[in-house]
Amino acid sequence: MRVVVTNNYQEMSREAARIVARQILAKEDSVLGLPTGDTPTGMYEELVQLDNRRLIDFSKVITFNLDEYYGLPLDHPGSYHRYMREKLFDHVNIQEGSIHIPDGVAKDIEEECRRYEEEIYRYGGIDLQILGIGPNGHIGFNEPGSDWEMTTRLVKLSEETRRRESRYFRDPTEVPTQGITMGIKTIMKARKILLLASGKEKAKATTKALKGPVTKKVPASILQLHPMVTVVLDKEAGSLF
Ligand code: PGA
Repeated sequence: MRVVVTNNYQEMSREAARIVARQILAKEDSVLGLPTGDTPTGMYEELVQLDNRRLIDFSKVITFNLDEYYGLPLDHPGSYHRYMREKLFDHVNIQEGSIHIPDGVAKDIEEECRRYEEEIYRYGGIDLQILGIGPNGHIGFNEPGSDWEMTTRLVKLSEETRRRESRYFRDPTEVPTQGITMGIKTIMKARKILLLASGKEKAKATTKALKGPVTKKVPASILQLHPMVTVVLDKEAGSLF
């Protein structure tokens, strides 16, 4: 595992964008696994700039998002569909058909999860999976206690996660109680993983995940068993290392 501790959020974002850019330059039809949240917004800004300066090209890139809320209209301001359009897809030359995000309002959710998982392998699997980490150690919506063997599925969100996510909603009661997420197994099958964390509130979770025992109580700790992980932290998230 390669761990890079940067001086601040902007440096973390630049370093992350450089890693993604290198992946795209090395393989123009890379399959990327993408996260949402506050952590990757700076990385997306950097990637948009690199694209707009024609240093990278998204036209052949394929993307699969990690997760989405269950039951939230896709154009809801809190949805991950909306987030991805606003932060990345509306600003780069990616093809519409190359974008994949779980459909949280699909009629048959079980079928949607199965289809999503299959679609990933139809494209040859994920080349680079980018991840954030929750203060409780979750990756995607795989909350503490999640089974390592799970693939894409409908899950219940922890109260802690719902409270944190309420910053994206007008009213905390609007935060969905469930989400669709790639499973730990889906994530672990990616060829390479890039984990990002910034800020003091991530210091404990990051240290437990990367230096503590591999345990279901800290879902991100499974990454210690993945052969190709790069971790990019800012100084605060790396302060307990
Ligand atoms: P954040 O969320 O980037 O908004 O901190 C990360 C996560 O909960 O996985």
